[in-house]
Amino acid sequence: MTEYRRGKRPGSPDNSQDRNKRQRIGIGGVVAAHYNNIQEKSIEDRFQSSIIHMRSFNNWIKSMLISSVSDMVRGGMWDAQEPLTVLDIGVGKGGDLGKWSKHGIKHLIGFDIASESLACCKSRFQDMQRNSRRFNGPPFTAEFYEADFTRDRLKDMINPGNIPVDIVSCQFSFHYCFESFAQADHTLANVSECLKDGGYFMLTFPDAYNIVHRWKAAGGNEFGNRICKVNFGQPPCQLPLFGAKYRFSLEGVVDCPEFLVYFPALVEIAKRNGLTLVYRKTFKELFDEHSSTSAGRGLLGRMQALETYPSGERNQRNLESIGEYEHAKRFVANLTKESGGGDRDIRVGTLSKSEWEAASLYTAAVFKKPTMADRAVLSIEDDD
Ligand SMILES: C[S@@+](CC[C@H](N)C(=O)[O-])C[C@H]1O[C@@H](n2cnc3c(N)ncnc32)[C@H](O)[C@@H]1O
Repeated sequence: MTEYRRGKRPGSPDNSQDRNKRQRIGIGGVVAAHYNNIQEKSIEDRFQSSIIHMRSFNNWIKSMLISSVSDMVRGGMWDAQEPLTVLDIGVGKGGDLGKWSKHGIKHLIGFDIASESLACCKSRFQDMQRNSRRFNGPPFTAEFYEADFTRDRLKDMINPGNIPVDIVSCQFSFHYCFESFAQADHTLANVSECLKDGGYFMLTFPDAYNIVHRWKAAGGNEFGNRICKVNFGQPPCQLPLFGAKYRFSLEGVVDCPEFLVYFPALVEIAKRNGLTLVYRKTFKELFDEHSSTSAGRGLLGRMQALETYPSGERNQRNLESIGEYEHAKRFVANLTKESGGGDRDIRVGTLSKSEWEAASLYTAAVFKKPTMADRAVLSIEDDD
């Protein structure tokens, strides 16, 4: 089953004139226009991109999160083999469809504010269905809607038989709701009312602590490197809790206003919407944790999430001349020394300095909607 509607209840017609009339308020319109204007890249273009490894690295992080959160949900289920249902808010072009498919889900509900991205996502899903039917039937069913998760009520649009879901996922999109308290609160209310008791909310977003730290260290309006820039339009100063706006640009991918997510405020708003924090981990912490497991290491290699150094490729040699691989060079030199020198051909997996600086701007968090039993424990703890 595939459904594809725009911010309406199932069954109402999808009128494209209505689409043009519908005005987005706040920065919603800017965000939608921005993502709609990003051209889908050919495989060749993707290989030539100077952030190809960082993109793969981010995909690897998301795979690790999907895997560990799916395990957490299954750990609390009577039947651990039961396929899961997922709500993806800010689903984009469907870059995570394949990851969910590998984790045996039975249904996915996707929302996005950008109609063109959603059309790409739907067509990607249909391709997946066509391909998998050739082998052993559709991987899972899905429904897709155009909506603003910070302002629209998602529950009203979803096929009622498909909620509540086991997992809500919001990847690289959550920070847009920190435009105002009302939008952040609305987003978490949407998440909570669509989630089962015992279900999890997983999200990745820019790390405000890291961003503000780098902004202060730079001292001016902006900081960044050859692939990404963060610009506050003013030198370091006191910022509001909500609406702390900056402009983020990442080579050919994003050039859009974004908002800092002040983490203690996120935890409080999640709490008032019945969600409790399980953990928050930076991408560096997630890398350290998962790259030491054999599953994580294996997937790092298969996804080519790190670049081989030294590769001898021209592009790498050019970047090396501007100091982009000093860290990897030192690491290889130490390994060579430890192994007693010799002519062993030592190579390591790495990211260029700029790609690592961009990837390490992000953090992940997981929240749980407590079960009755969890709630009893929480209230006992509150009494202590
Ligand atoms: C950086 S992309 C991430 C896409 C996808 N989650 C991924 O990880 O590949 C951010 C997505 O969030 C969507 N988005 C931003 N604000 C939104 C909102 N208020 N409601 C729904 N979608 C939104 C954008 O249109 C875009 O597709």
